[in-house]
Amino acid sequence: MSLSPECTDRDLAAIARMVYETSGITLHAGKRALVSARLQKRLRQTGAASFRDYIKVLQRDVSGEELTAMLDAITTNHTSFFREPQHFDFLAQTVLPTLCDRANGKPILGWSAACSTGEEAYTVAITACQALSDAASRRVTLLASDISSRAVARAAAGLFRSERTADMPRHLVLKYFQKASSPQSGVLQVTPSVRQMIEFRRLNLLHPAPPGPPFDFIFCRNVMIYFDRAAQQRVIDSLEARLARGGYLFISHSESLNGVRHGLSWVAPAIYRRGAA
Ligand SMILES: C[S@@+](CC[C@H](N)C(=O)[O-])C[C@H]1O[C@@H](n2cnc3c(N)ncnc32)[C@H](O)[C@@H]1O
Repeated sequence: MSLSPECTDRDLAAIARMVYETSGITLHAGKRALVSARLQKRLRQTGAASFRDYIKVLQRDVSGEELTAMLDAITTNHTSFFREPQHFDFLAQTVLPTLCDRANGKPILGWSAACSTGEEAYTVAITACQALSDAASRRVTLLASDISSRAVARAAAGLFRSERTADMPRHLVLKYFQKASSPQSGVLQVTPSVRQMIEFRRLNLLHPAPPGPPFDFIFCRNVMIYFDRAAQQRVIDSLEARLARGGYLFISHSESLNGVRHGLSWVAPAIYRRGAA
């Protein structure tokens, strides 16, 4: 019988410090079982006999590859299509029509800032295709990013087991998904016209936001819930700075900006807006 290596208080504290410093995610003592279970495979793959050995592997990892693999294992990537559907109604009925009416046919830029395996970004793209004319939806460009390289790779492939689309209206599945040319049966792929609206990148929300034109709307949902107040403040400062004037920020209904300094106005549950020019 082979026993899994034990994660001691000291090991947990060292791992929690590295995770916090790198990603902002707070792992308290109650997360020991989760940390231990999620990292067992990393220990096996790096040949570490104990958590202590594994921590040494991380400390010596100049390439940053093992740190990335560790974060991939630790992060919670739970997501779904049309999660918190009121946000997509608001996007379709209020945000997109306003942006479209804006003079001079400028591009419409959105960001799914903790996109996990892509369901949120694809839902935004599908919502835009449904709400706008073909010509207007071609103006929509999305950035979708996450700290987890594994999640971003899965998101970019746009492949989903058909059960993942079970709660979506059938007509949307038929219109925006096709059978994948994958050897596995029951796998659907988002159509190329929707995939090409989105650029997927690995980005850390604690690092400066990518340079470029400001975003008309940002979805940053179900990630700040893992952060302490200081990390939330850093993220909100950075997102606010990257929002266009009049741009919208969507957080999750289970998150709050209470106690975080910002200059945004509340417009609807879990939706904030930067002041117009
Ligand atoms: C629970 S998922 C939320 C996915 C989607 N936004 C939703 O609401 O369904 C949280 C995601 O945040 C990502 N994440 C955690 N810390 C991050 C950071 N510092 N920078 C970027 N992404 C991060 C995780 O990898 C994970 O994919």
